[in-house]
Amino acid sequence: MMSSLPLFHPVKSIEATFHQEAEIVAFNGDVADFVAQIPDESITLIITSPPYNLGKIYENRTTISDYLETQSSLISELCRILKPNGSICWQVGNFVEDGEIYPLDIFYYPIFKKFRMKLRNRIIWTFGHGLHSSKRFSGRYETILWFTKSDDYIFNLDSVRVPSKYPGKRHFKGPNRGKPSGNPLLTYSPAQRQGILVPGSASALTSSGCPSKAAVHSPQAFPLSRQFPFAQRYCFATPFPRCLVPS
Ligand SMILES: C[S@@+](CC[C@H](N)C(=O)[O-])C[C@H]1O[C@@H](n2cnc3c(N)ncnc32)[C@H](O)[C@@H]1O
Repeated sequence: MMSSLPLFHPVKSIEATFHQEAEIVAFNGDVADFVAQIPDESITLIITSPPYNLGKIYENRTTISDYLETQSSLISELCRILKPNGSICWQVGNFVEDGEIYPLDIFYYPIFKKFRMKLRNRIIWTFGHGLHSSKRFSGRYETILWFTKSDDYIFNLDSVRVPSKYPGKRHFKGPNRGKPSGNPLLTYSPAQRQGILVPGSASALTSSGCPSKAAVHSPQAFPLSRQFPFAQRYCFATPFPRCLVPS
C-alpha cells in the first residue's frame, strides 16, 4: 500500500536535451535552440509566458515590430512541433511605451492566425497587485490566448466543471418540463461557460488553484506555475503529455 502513495513513486529523471523517451526535460538555454531539437507534430500542449519586451533582466528591449518578428519565428516553430490535436496557451500582458499601452495579445492574434491556429478562449487573469498608475487606471490583468491547431483538439470540460449556481433547476415549459435542465454530472457556472475566469468565484485564476478541484485562497504572483499544471493534466491534454514551458 505504501508504494502506491505518490511519496514513494520512483523519482523521475530530468534530462537536459529532448528525446522521445524522456519524461522530463529541463533545458537551460535559448528556447529556439531547444525547440529546434524537437520533431514535427510531437507535442500535445505548449504553455508559455514569453518576454513582453519591457527591458527586463532577461531581454533586450527593442521596437515592438522587431520583438514581434522574433516571436513570430518562434511561434512558427512551435506550430511545427505541435500535434494536430494540440494546444498552445500564450500568456501576455501589455507592452508599455511612454505611458501608452500595447495589449500584446491583440498584436499576437494575427501572428497565430497566419499559422492557421484557432482561438478557443481568451482567458483573463485579473490580480490585485502591481504598480499604481497615476495618469490612467492601473493595469491589473493579463490574458492567456488558448489556440488549437485544428478543430479536433483535446478539451476535457468534465474535469473542470464546478457546481451549478442553481442546482436542481428544471425546465419549466416544453416537452422536458419538470426534468433537470442542467448537466447530470455537474453543471458549470456562467462565468466558466463564457471562458472568463473571474476572481472570487471557484474558477478564478488568481485565487483558486484550479476550478472546482481546490479553493486555495492565497494571492500569488503568477498563474502559470500553479494553474497550468492543472490545465495540462485535466483540461487541454491527456495526463502527462509532453509539455513545454520555456521559462
Ligand atoms: C514574462 S517571463 C515569464 C514568467 C514565468 N513564466 C513565470 O511563471 O513566472 C519570461 C520568461 O522567459 C524567459 N526567457 C526570455 N527569453 C528567453 C529565451 N530566448 N529562451 C528561453 N527563455 C527565455 C525569461 O528568463 C523569463 O523567465
